[in-house]
Amino acid sequence: MSFKVTVLPANREFTVEPGQTVLDAALAAGIVLPYSCRNGTCSTCAGQVLSGEYDAGPAPARILDAADLARGHTLLCQARPSSDLVIEAREVRMADDIVVRKMPVRVLSLEPLAPDVMEITLQLPSAEAFRFQPGQYLEFILKDGSRRSYSMACGQADEHRVRLHVRHMPGGLFTSRVFGVGAEPLKPREILRIEGPLGAFFLDPDDPRPIIFLASGTGFAPIRAMVEGMLARGDTRPATLYWGGRRPADLYQRALVSEWQSQLPGLHFVPVLSEAEPGDGWTGRTGWVHQAVMEDVPDLSGHQVYACGSPAMVEAARRDFVGQCGLSPEAFHADAFTSAA
Ligand code: FES
Repeated sequence: MSFKVTVLPANREFTVEPGQTVLDAALAAGIVLPYSCRNGTCSTCAGQVLSGEYDAGPAPARILDAADLARGHTLLCQARPSSDLVIEAREVRMADDIVVRKMPVRVLSLEPLAPDVMEITLQLPSAEAFRFQPGQYLEFILKDGSRRSYSMACGQADEHRVRLHVRHMPGGLFTSRVFGVGAEPLKPREILRIEGPLGAFFLDPDDPRPIIFLASGTGFAPIRAMVEGMLARGDTRPATLYWGGRRPADLYQRALVSEWQSQLPGLHFVPVLSEAEPGDGWTGRTGWVHQAVMEDVPDLSGHQVYACGSPAMVEAARRDFVGQCGLSPEAFHADAFTSAA
């Protein structure tokens, strides 16, 4: 049996077919709600059910606060209705010419950026343009049907090419191939299958509030895409990039950020290390990257935040920025890695 879902405050309606999740049905109807992992691990798709019955699945109890659960918050990528629903969720405006497609891609090059970070450049089919919003991701569809998600680390597909930043996850099916460790190495010219662009993590072009970019590790990739998008548009909104890692090598493209700053005078950069050692010669900030933001900007009520990194970092930032620093919940935009390797 199918059910009707009404999304407030936009007052949009769509139908959920049997077996579909609320998020999948919304996307199929052209209504883009915030989402990232689609597997119940990142909480980006959290929304409030105002009325109606549904099967939430086990994920919300694992990752949402008890207080939010009690208010009817759930993960829309997991929720399956058993009656008509009224939900409250933010709608994301997606450019009209963005089409999600599956396609073959060719590996053009693999370039190490750090001991455990590889930049992969992919050649896309030239028949059609691959348009995406800077900050979106693509998924590799592996031979066993499993998928791996990576953000485009570029503002657009120049000459039908996109870049990705892949961190080595020891023992992982895909990243072991990328790093040629314990598996047949991925080689230039190899053909892979992807689906994309996906995700709702991109800059709101009309929000004039100063931007805080918050990244940990390779969460830098979609932020790089967003800043390249700003450079291309001549977008001079004030922005500060907080990039956190454990050791200096984790902040693998710091020189590039300096280049951006020469073209975007309103862009500030705060690198932060959580495990700096005396031999690193590190004289910059230390500690948790989201706490550096809170130290510098204790009142975030006039800001917008774009956060990408581990689910733990993203969730801590969401909780503390909104709960302690007055950030408006709708001003927190996030993309969180999932653990598949
Ligand atoms: Fe639903 Fe990540 S938990 S998109």
